[in-house]
Amino acid sequence: MKTDNYTDLYKLNKAHVVRVFDLTDKEKLFVFRFDDKDLASTWTYKPGQFVQIAVPGVGESTISITSSATRKGFFELCIRKVGRVTSVIHKLRPGDVVGIRGPYGNGFPMEAMEGKDLLLIASGLGMAPLRGVFLYALDNRWLYGRIALINTARYSSELLFREELDAMLDMTTAENLLIMQTVTREPEYPGLKGRATEYIDQTGVDPKNCAVIVCGPPRMYMDVFRKVLQLGFSPDHLYMTLERRMKCGVGKCGHCVAGTATNMVYMCKDGPVFTYYDIMSTPGLI
Ligand SMILES: Cc1cc2nc3c(=O)[nH]c(=O)nc-3n(C[C@H](O)[C@H](O)[C@H](O)COP(=O)(O)OP(=O)(O)OC[C@H]3O[C@@H](n4cnc5c(N)ncnc54)[C@H](O)[C@@H]3O)c2cc1C
Ligand code: FES
Repeated sequence: MKTDNYTDLYKLNKAHVVRVFDLTDKEKLFVFRFDDKDLASTWTYKPGQFVQIAVPGVGESTISITSSATRKGFFELCIRKVGRVTSVIHKLRPGDVVGIRGPYGNGFPMEAMEGKDLLLIASGLGMAPLRGVFLYALDNRWLYGRIALINTARYSSELLFREELDAMLDMTTAENLLIMQTVTREPEYPGLKGRATEYIDQTGVDPKNCAVIVCGPPRMYMDVFRKVLQLGFSPDHLYMTLERRMKCGVGKCGHCVAGTATNMVYMCKDGPVFTYYDIMSTPGLI
């Protein structure tokens, strides 16, 4: 976990809403800036890390950072309205203040992926952490080979960041990128239809030299892994993020523990990013 900016792991820092964008019926993108100008200009994090966002008098929620620290002065959270805290967050307007703890979690090992092609597969809200990876890789374009992103959802109205990704299509050839957006339950949709696994062999990445990152509901992970291993991708560079309800976010409360007595895993500090080998060796992790 990155603690460069903190002496206190639990420290809440005040941040205010700068802008709010409606992404879908359920998800909004919030742009935040820390009130402390030194923190605003220096705060850093890795793709795949998360924060605890606190709404005074209501409670806290665990949310992945969807922006990239390569873009300074602000950070972004994509938040689905599901319950008590997120419903109140959805009412926030520019200027409103929240508390932010973090960044927490291990994040993706972006350095270990340097020199490789990247295959990013997102389903639904999984696009939130994966957007951070995608923007990071674009801002460090020379460090990676071909970058392919498959963004999938049940309906086109649920495709997160759909317009933003469509707006990048003009640079895909020049930047050696591929962006595919596919839906699984909308037969009349004019674009790509079907599951992400149906498109992996069309992405043009080199299976022998490619890191695969999957973010979505856990039930899709085994399907994706089965498919990529079948296509000759190496199991050494398969990554995913997992979600388990969290409280402290820093490995103290035991709320997020998985595994067994001899192989105990804290989702908040050992994860939320795990490898294929972690999944295979830890019962109950998915
Ligand atoms: C590492 C991590 C990253 C996350 N990133 C994001 C993100 O980028 N954007 C986002 O919108 N959400 C994200 N979540 C989920 C988010 O934390 C919860 O949806 C949120 O805290 C719900 O708070 P609430 O008070 O609104 O809902 P509550 O009133 O507490 O619960 C409403 C419903 O949601 C369910 N729920 C609550 N938390 C979770 C959870 N963690 N997993 C599954 N079901 C849950 C409850 O069981 C209940 O059915 C993430 C969770 C984790 C652990
Ligand atoms: S959330 Fe408290 S130990 Fe992980």
